Amino acid sequence: MARQLAKMNFYVVLGCRDEERGQAAGERLRREQLDGAAIPLDITDERTIASASDWVRENGGALDVLINNAGVNLQRAPASQTDMSLLRATYETNFFGVVALTKAMLPALLKAPAGRIVNVSSTLGSLTLQSDARGEFGGMKWLTYCSSKAAVVGQFELTHYQSGTQCGYRLLRLGTHPHSGKDQFRTQGTVQQT
Ligand SMILES: NC(=O)c1ccc[n+]([C@@H]2O[C@H](COP(=O)([O-])OP(=O)(O)OC[C@H]3O[C@@H](n4cnc5c(N)ncnc54)[C@H](OP(=O)(O)O)[C@@H]3O)[C@@H](O)[C@H]2O)c1
Repeated sequence: MARQLAKMNFYVVLGCRDEERGQAAGERLRREQLDGAAIPLDITDERTIASASDWVRENGGALDVLINNAGVNLQRAPASQTDMSLLRATYETNFFGVVALTKAMLPALLKAPAGRIVNVSSTLGSLTLQSDARGEFGGMKWLTYCSSKAAVVGQFELTHYQSGTQCGYRLLRLGTHPHSGKDQFRTQGTVQQT
């Protein structure tokens, strides 16, 4: 994804937990004559979120696209077997981390001509598909992961409503679902100052 965006002339900033691997990824982009940098970012750590937001402010201040891709799937088990510590840890990344990073980056997104937020949810987080008893996700009713991905979609709608932005919201068909072979849906929004 980073490489594809860099090839479209985006300056790609990779938020990475592991500094060494991040630097190596940035170096790979530059070796291909693509523009990019790696900065430390753990979305469960408010300090690195603040540093990432400072970095954007000090390097132009506008962010065209925020891609909330970071995600974990820590427990694949039905509701009755939910491990509360794994549930909390999952929400720290998949929900609280996404909310915190989005909140920190909103001012920079609003400075861009047509800022966009791409939230990587999952078909497994679709309440419609999950409530279809005969649907394809019968064997994947994992409360921990699926509910955290459903929460991301709710967060997305409410962030735009509360922040006084217009949200051009549509579903995108991206790639193929690895479990079903069917198309995978993800969401995209356009942030504009009202
Ligand atoms: N794979 C699928 O079938 C599938 C289907 C639908 C949706 N998704 C979603 O797509 C996204 C990417 O999934 P993937 O399959 O590519 O998984 P992956 O290979 O495990 O990649 C997840 C990435 O998130 C990063 N990450 C995790 N916790 C983080 C944190 N606290 N702060 C910063 N970065 C963090 C990881 O960093 P490290 O490299 O440091 O570990 C890793 O680069 C996830 O949101 C996932 O839920 C995946």
